[in-house]
Amino acid sequence: MDTGAIRHIMVVGAGTMGTGIAQVLAMNGFYVILCDVEHSILEHALDAIMHDIDRRISKGKLTAEDKQTVQKNIIITPELTSAREADFVIESVSETPELKRDIFARLDQLTSPGVILATNTSSISITAIGSATDRPEKVVGMHFMNPVPVMKLIEIIPGLLTSQDTIDTVMVLGRKLGKTPVEAADYPGFIANRVLMPMINEAIYALMEGVGTVEAIDTVMKLGMNHPMGPLALADFIGLDVVLHVLNVLNEGLGDPKYRPCPLLRKMVTAGQLGCKSGQGFYTYDESDL
Ligand SMILES: NC(=O)c1ccc[n+]([C@@H]2O[C@H](COP(=O)([O-])OP(=O)(O)OC[C@H]3O[C@@H](n4cnc5c(N)ncnc54)[C@H](O)[C@@H]3O)[C@@H](O)[C@H]2O)c1
Repeated sequence: MDTGAIRHIMVVGAGTMGTGIAQVLAMNGFYVILCDVEHSILEHALDAIMHDIDRRISKGKLTAEDKQTVQKNIIITPELTSAREADFVIESVSETPELKRDIFARLDQLTSPGVILATNTSSISITAIGSATDRPEKVVGMHFMNPVPVMKLIEIIPGLLTSQDTIDTVMVLGRKLGKTPVEAADYPGFIANRVLMPMINEAIYALMEGVGTVEAIDTVMKLGMNHPMGPLALADFIGLDVVLHVLNVLNEGLGDPKYRPCPLLRKMVTAGQLGCKSGQGFYTYDESDL
């Protein structure tokens, strides 16, 4: 498919990731139809986008004209039926397999047959999502990183039946967004989480076994390996519940005990210590950090 024919892109789900994806699409000249279940969520997403654009303007990275372009390029709707207007769809709703499969089945009915349906899932099989549609050759993973306007990577994940034409199209689209798309196969965790999560898990084991303090472990990885953030600070940023969920997916999907989530991680999640978003994880956060 010629990416020049892609003008109107629907983003389904206006949470953390959908908001960032909508912003990047609009900044790069695409018309965005941003969809979520409630108007209040959509208004909040628009406010977040404008706040980020204002911040970039104050730093001299964007102009008032860029802001107008973004304002003009995004419309919001609580109706999935607006997908009829879309040339391309990126789904970024909550990470629940049944919800995603239901949305893909509906998108399959609503959109023209040639439209590519991409998902931003972190851990659900693209092949499984594609099987909810009659066009699995046009279903593909586009795994953006958080925060989307800042992070350069998009993992591109073909399902078992995804066509080469679909892969080529999303590769070109990713580059048009100023990102670096990298292809990964449809196995649990793709590349990013397959490599990252065992490292975070090992850091938590090291903490639990008293190999080092939180500060010692993060400092070793920052100064010794040149990582911009230590693994424990990164786990807090991602959310300890999300880390546990992805480790469970790797553990169950690959069946290798090396992915077994650390008992300390399970205990912290059970206690509601979820990292930045709850105010307490490996570090303590106050309002100004949130
Ligand atoms: N947060 C991350 O760091 C990250 C990174 C990469 C990928 N992801 C993936 O991105 C997706 C979204 O994650 P998030 O962190 O933005 O979650 P989030 O909870 O911030 O947002 C999810 C949004 O989906 C909406 N939603 C739920 N059901 C819907 C429906 N039927 N129709 C329309 N909208 C609906 C919710 O109202 C919510 O606004 C997930 O698949 C997640 O695995 C997340």
